[in-house]
Amino acid sequence: MTITLAIETSCDETAVAVVKKYEVLSSIVTSQIAIHRPYGGVVPEVASRQHLESINVAIVQALEAAQLNWPEIDGVAATCAPGLVGALLVGLTAAKTLAIVHQKPFVGVHHLEGHIYAAYLANPQLKPPFLCLLVSGGHTSLIHVKDCGIYETLGQTRDDAAGEAFDKVARLLGLGYPGGPEIDRIAADGDPHAFKLPEGKIKQPGGGFHPYDSSFSGLKTAVMRLVGELKQSSDRLPIADLAASFQETVARSLVKRTIACALDYGLETIAVGGGVAANSRLRHLLQEEATHHNLRVLLPPMKFCTDNAATIGCAASEHLSRGHLSSLNLGVRSRMTLTDVMQLYADNSELPLANS
Ligand code: KG4
Ligand code: ZN
Repeated sequence: MTITLAIETSCDETAVAVVKKYEVLSSIVTSQIAIHRPYGGVVPEVASRQHLESINVAIVQALEAAQLNWPEIDGVAATCAPGLVGALLVGLTAAKTLAIVHQKPFVGVHHLEGHIYAAYLANPQLKPPFLCLLVSGGHTSLIHVKDCGIYETLGQTRDDAAGEAFDKVARLLGLGYPGGPEIDRIAADGDPHAFKLPEGKIKQPGGGFHPYDSSFSGLKTAVMRLVGELKQSSDRLPIADLAASFQETVARSLVKRTIACALDYGLETIAVGGGVAANSRLRHLLQEEATHHNLRVLLPPMKFCTDNAATIGCAASEHLSRGHLSSLNLGVRSRMTLTDVMQLYADNSELPLANS
């Protein structure tokens, strides 16, 4: 079975993993969160330099933890898009260099495809088609997974991504970065029905609301106004109630759209991926509603929801086993839609991709 060494450096985690198809042999994640925390977000230049510091050690650690050496590795993979260009370049260059030195096939991977492949770590027997609710710091999408590399986006947010909304609202509430885990923790002590917040419906041109698309920027503004009003009437903000009400609104909005989409498209399995898929309320509510509608939910282990290289390795192993290889001229891209994934393995991938 295909054994892949995978590298992920698209944002603020330097991650290296060794996977045997969908079995994780090792997964090293070196987080930069503490370094970026004083700035309240990721500083791209700092991230690139930090990846450079950590990448070689992480590669050695991943091989050691898997108790394997280069002769046993079948291919080398790295995330090449989307993400921070300087950060992506560190992982991609390391992977290409290793592929050349050890004469292994090289596979470029789309970051979001990695998040989708977390589903296979929840159930290695999973077969498409299925629906994936992909909720990360930069994306909120409902994706129809038709086959490896073949994706259709059925719904998305029109503005802020779910993770972005968690991070912004956490900042408003004076909580730390990243905001998602902080809100999740504090909401446990709050009343989710303390405040009624707008769900972020999108009006359709012909009337009614879009069944799968959502908006989170109005919700963020509503929390901002509410915080302003509450501050005028009291010195102490009910942080736990605010966090719980916000979290409940996001979870309900996402679950409602996901269930509607799965039912409309006749997709019986729903997978979740991306950092926000680690949210306790979202996981619980989705499981509850799906069971109610006779749908199956795949909840990957939390550590494979947030950025890591194991899920990148799973996607790469599948491409590798299908003969989808990338050219060593492959470049990085800050933006790239999932519908273009197969471009990474196209015959003309000799052409470098745009660097922006
Ligand atoms: O997938 P990810 O690790 O990186 C991106 O590709 O963006 O997602 C990071 C996002 C951050 O916005 C973070 O606040 C959010 O995921 N997140 C959470 C939780 N854990 C991470 N949001 C809500 N609840 C959580 N438990
Ligand atoms: Zn991610």
